[in-house]
Amino acid sequence: MSVRRLAEVQPEGFSPNRETTAFAKAAVKKYPDGKQASAVIPLLWRVQEQNAGWVSEPAIRWTAEFLDMPYIRVYEIATFYTMFNLQPVGEFHVQLCGTTPCMLRGSEDLKTVCRKVIGDQMAVTADGKLSWVEVECLGACVNAPMVQINKDYYEDLTPDILERILSDLRDGKDVKPGPQNSRHRSEPLGGALTLVGHVTAKKAKPKAAPKAKTEPKAKAEPKAKAAAPRKAKAAPAKAAAVAKPKKPRGVKAPKQPDDLKLISGVGPKLERTLNELGIYKFAQIAKWSKAEIDWVDDYLSFKGRIERDDWIKQAGALEKGVEEYVRVFGKKPK
Ligand code: FES
Repeated sequence: MSVRRLAEVQPEGFSPNRETTAFAKAAVKKYPDGKQASAVIPLLWRVQEQNAGWVSEPAIRWTAEFLDMPYIRVYEIATFYTMFNLQPVGEFHVQLCGTTPCMLRGSEDLKTVCRKVIGDQMAVTADGKLSWVEVECLGACVNAPMVQINKDYYEDLTPDILERILSDLRDGKDVKPGPQNSRHRSEPLGGALTLVGHVTAKKAKPKAAPKAKTEPKAKAEPKAKAAAPRKAKAAPAKAAAVAKPKKPRGVKAPKQPDDLKLISGVGPKLERTLNELGIYKFAQIAKWSKAEIDWVDDYLSFKGRIERDDWIKQAGALEKGVEEYVRVFGKKPK
């Protein structure tokens, strides 16, 4: 970690407001007598909140005095943890994770966006809205690459998405934190892959039971009962395999990709996303199975739009040429 120093320009003093004083008194009470120093991190955090997002030198002194700690001990803590900003930050302060998993998944490109939209690290934009800094792992590696903006995580980012988020925050628009690629928390894309069969098997049990009861002899019952669960287990496995969304197989970028924008409902941005998935040709889309349609639909958060817009039929016609498209749909592709 690089050396972190206090800002060169400091305010003359720090005076806690009513909320900070009440917070500090309550925090200290959580620890036994003589152990009040244990409250140093929550106190510095509260001080930072009051002080427009950064910890000043007078605020560090006040915290040390309140907790009866040597000033240097509080200084060490404030300068060690990157959660404490040592100079003024923007209204929306971006902490960008640059550690290995995020780096392998594209954090360098995210840094380029921050430099373009915000400027140098720890510089505040002229409107006071944005600032950024690179930090070490924020513990959300499974959703890499990611950033933390104020208290929220934004995960599974691409440069385009981060740029949009920064622009929306600047414009005062609502922005949804969490994964940005439609997946739920850290589940695989397309939904959970484990315990699915387990739930279905439970539902299947009552169906198997009546068979065993029809056996005439008491001795035969155990065999029938033993056989029933096997059947019940096999059925849901099949059902789950049919229903499970499946990522369509992508290909390397061909020399002559098709113009996927000819499909009604596909614009330049969506075409780029499909290309990122290895989808370049009408023929690929025309062959998608239901499971593959479901996967892509979920990935794009389309809620059924692929089937509503009939991408498969459109792609099938476009594969044969514009004339075929006109013949099938009675109009030219856009
Ligand atoms: S490496 Fe980025 S969150 Fe862990």
